[in-house]
Amino acid sequence: MALNTNFKTLDIREVLDATHMRGRDITFIDDFSSEEILSLFQAAEMFEPFMRTGLNLLNGKVLYTLFFQPSTRTRCSHENAMLRLGGSVITETDPLHSASFAKNESLADSLRVTSEYADVIVMRHPDDKEALQALNATEGYCAPVISGGYGHVTHPTQGLLDAYTCWRAFGELSKVTVAIATPDLSRARSGHSFALTLAALGAKIIYTGTSALPIPEIVRHKLTVMGAHFEEHFDLTKKENEILYMDEKADLIYLPGCSVKKDDPNRADFERKMANFYISLEMLQTIKDKTGKIVGLHHSLPRNPGEFDFTIDNTEHQLYFKAIGFSVALRMALLAAVVGVH
Ligand code: CP
Repeated sequence: MALNTNFKTLDIREVLDATHMRGRDITFIDDFSSEEILSLFQAAEMFEPFMRTGLNLLNGKVLYTLFFQPSTRTRCSHENAMLRLGGSVITETDPLHSASFAKNESLADSLRVTSEYADVIVMRHPDDKEALQALNATEGYCAPVISGGYGHVTHPTQGLLDAYTCWRAFGELSKVTVAIATPDLSRARSGHSFALTLAALGAKIIYTGTSALPIPEIVRHKLTVMGAHFEEHFDLTKKENEILYMDEKADLIYLPGCSVKKDDPNRADFERKMANFYISLEMLQTIKDKTGKIVGLHHSLPRNPGEFDFTIDNTEHQLYFKAIGFSVALRMALLAAVVGVH
């Protein structure tokens, strides 16, 4: 073996700097290169041992979470990550009633004002256009804003978490094929952010959906400009989807879930059509018997009965709860990268 002395000790500050995320909004994944995303993953891996013990890298810094839609995972993991980094959190979970939006304050004004209190903002908003307009209007006067999900088109920290989980599970992602399966690709923001991250890292993406509810044009445009290796399949039966996963040698099936609220009529439509996308344990075992491949199943959560067989929870295929275990480390890396450490 030849001796290679071209190495040095890892420095978390250098790894965070290599993300080039300091002071930047996190809105769409295609704003970042594969090297920057991999630097974030490297930082997340370095933070994993500190998810419970914490380390004081952001002492004195403040995170403001502004969520116009309900959330458990995205809000709590960011807040937990900030606390573990030694920072503090101001949280707003009901802005239309308990904040000055109830007095008709604009989103832009609110972001500009709260930027005087916080070093970074994580925001979830139901309308991507309204969120992006507010970001444009406050450019240069606002703390960096990390999207916790805007409209139906982007949920970048979920996409990064899903890809980080794959990176930890599979290693090199350019050799991985991921099937993104849902009857409603038009409202699948976590699936699209995952797809953009996979595209940046060279993975192959197989979308399977229904022709009436296709990928939003803005996402298709981004995938095309990135030169993504992606295919779209529509209106397949459950059996045809199983054959697709086998023929395409899918390593992972990703279910972005249903983002439609409980009382929305589109939800019943989703649940009815989901039967063709249902993943049973028997299906995964059949694929393993025929091909020898253990196909992973991932879901962004929250999940609902009728999407997949919950007995998969305790099998070798399950990635959805495993991903939660990485979520704080990934968000610690993201907050430290965006806020910057000295
Ligand atoms: N996956 C996800 O975004 O979950 P929450 O809605 O609970 O944040």
